Amino acid sequence: MSDITVLGIFVADISFSGNKLPSMGETILGDSYNVGPGGKGCNQAIAISRLGGKVNFISKLGDDEYGKLAINKLKKDNIDTSNIIISNKHKTGVAGIHVDKNTGKNAITVVRGAPSSLTTKEIDTNLFKQSKIFLTQLEIPIQVTLHCLKAAKEYGLINILNPAPACELSNDFFKLVDYFTPNETEAEFYTGVKINNANDAKVSAKKLIEMGIKKVIITLGEKGLLYSDGKEEIYMKATADKAVDTTGAGDAFNGGFSFALLKGKKIKECLEIANKVAGFSTTKLGAGDSMPIPKDINLTV
Ligand code: RIB
Repeated sequence: MSDITVLGIFVADISFSGNKLPSMGETILGDSYNVGPGGKGCNQAIAISRLGGKVNFISKLGDDEYGKLAINKLKKDNIDTSNIIISNKHKTGVAGIHVDKNTGKNAITVVRGAPSSLTTKEIDTNLFKQSKIFLTQLEIPIQVTLHCLKAAKEYGLINILNPAPACELSNDFFKLVDYFTPNETEAEFYTGVKINNANDAKVSAKKLIEMGIKKVIITLGEKGLLYSDGKEEIYMKATADKAVDTTGAGDAFNGGFSFALLKGKKIKECLEIANKVAGFSTTKLGAGDSMPIPKDINLTV
């Protein structure tokens, strides 16, 4: 039994922290490196579970060291790993992440490995019936994502799509999504509207609603976030936390938001909780490992 089903990838994040991000053709000397859990789905699953939600994480791993690391880490965080497929034909993926320690900003290349071979036949969508919320991103093959969104909708789940990394989506997607949660770059990809401020975000959200999406949350990094359902609009500033590493902040937000929604909170409170989870995650190095437990963000549920 799980409250939330998360479909997504696990990769081993190999993060390099230094005084700046390297430019094209440049070699820089970094200060430290870390190997930890990453992949948007994995990070979101950890965020939910640490807050107290029961998570079923659906993914695919290689039968290798990083695959073992994944299972250990996920189990330690009380995540149901029984629906993770282990492939002996593919490797577990990795991400190479450069972090500028002064701003916390990053540049990421992900090699997905095993989950890039995931097929619809490998997923038992009957399991979705046990959950109330289905949360996914765009790191899994697109046809699998669409198939699962359809199944989740048929079973009456709330569908949350974090469209990251952005890629072309058919109209079928938009109709199936209850909450669409792009960051400002991803929102620009779908609407063509460059977002520099809250007003631009409102224009972008309006376009997304016109495309058939029910509810939109555009995360704006240090500028905060904008929610719209076509009638109600909420703008919220980001927390004042000093960012050390912003990797996984969007995942923290999605995890925190899904958890708050599960707990039946009103939209404004869901956004406040998600905002705090995201803010906290930026104060720690790493992605999956930077997710808070309730007392870190003074959360009582
Ligand atoms: O959102 C951050 C995540 O994106 C990283 O953990 C990296 O693995 C990529 O999937």
